[in-house]
Amino acid sequence: MSFVLHWGRPATAMSTLPHLSPSPDLRERVVVTDVALRDGLQNQTQHVGTADKAALMRALAAAGVPSIEATSFVSPRAVPQMADATAVIAEALALAPLRASALTPNLKGLERALAAGAREVAVVLSCTETMNRKNINMSLAEATRVSCETLRAARAQGLATRGYLAVAFECPFEGTTPPERVLELGLALLEAGADEIVVADTIGAASPAQVQQLLGRLLLQLPVDRLGLHLHDTRGMGVANAYAGLELGVRRFDASVGGIGGCPFAPGAAGNLATEDLVYLLDGLGHETGVRIELVTAASAPLEAAVGHRLPSRYLQASRATRAGTAS
Ligand code: COA
Ligand code: ZN
Repeated sequence: MSFVLHWGRPATAMSTLPHLSPSPDLRERVVVTDVALRDGLQNQTQHVGTADKAALMRALAAAGVPSIEATSFVSPRAVPQMADATAVIAEALALAPLRASALTPNLKGLERALAAGAREVAVVLSCTETMNRKNINMSLAEATRVSCETLRAARAQGLATRGYLAVAFECPFEGTTPPERVLELGLALLEAGADEIVVADTIGAASPAQVQQLLGRLLLQLPVDRLGLHLHDTRGMGVANAYAGLELGVRRFDASVGGIGGCPFAPGAAGNLATEDLVYLLDGLGHETGVRIELVTAASAPLEAAVGHRLPSRYLQASRATRAGTAS
């Protein structure tokens, strides 16, 4: 049996824990950040207009989602779907206290976000050389420097900040990412002023054992209340990986309504862990999230119409099937 470190002390492997009666510390409040508007939409071929994005934000706010990633201030040539970032932030600001962050890969992005009135920004640092080249056309060293300078400048302006560590588990170009490198980059982002470090399984290739191993290593040096998990469900491991994170004390998770998602620069990156599926897990464990799952599923019908295809969330599909069964 393998052991991982759990808040600095040995913990049993997940399979030996009492799943039927969650311990009280598994019931704390969990912050869910819906990333559909950025991670979800950036990959869609069908253009989604600002009005549809605003409607989705209103639906998520009404469902009690406390935090969203609203858009990204990137090159509109690289990601045309995010060309309306300024207008989207204006819509998001009207929905306070909903927290809305914007991705800013460099100082130019930060300047645009500040001009739009953003109060929270995020940088994305990929943990491998090749992924940084493909995503933001920089070497790992250059991307680290630019991410850190962007975080420092954001903090100096009083913004809240998130630092993503992309391809933290597996990279589509370089295979398994060394945990020591993830730690080193996480510490650099923290030092530069990231309020929160978000460990991302960008291509949805991690297993719960990998989540235990990597987080177990990171938590030796990073405080658990500053750590979040961003999971994709490409291989059906999203909920299992979230559970592994919960067991290690992580209380911040990204997810996307309907499970929409993917990254145009990472081959094989499919949908994010669905917000409905994550909230179903959290509700079942007795965690408080403030999110009303049925109102999240209600947001999915107009989103499906806007992107022109069905969304993959298992909870969403099951709730529709149940409703159809009841109606017949
Ligand atoms: N917002 C808008 N435009 C930007 C920008 C930003 N944050 N940063 C740079 N640009 C513009 C430059 O002004 C320049 O414009 P010009 O050609 O009209 O003069 C052009 O983009 C190229 O700039 P350069 O500094 O040479 O960057 P690049 O071509 O190497 O691209 C990025 C770098 C980061 C801007 C680009 O790769 C990008 O936006 N990638 C998107 C990453 C992403 O969203 N990934 C998914 C999420 S992880
Ligand atoms: Zn992602």
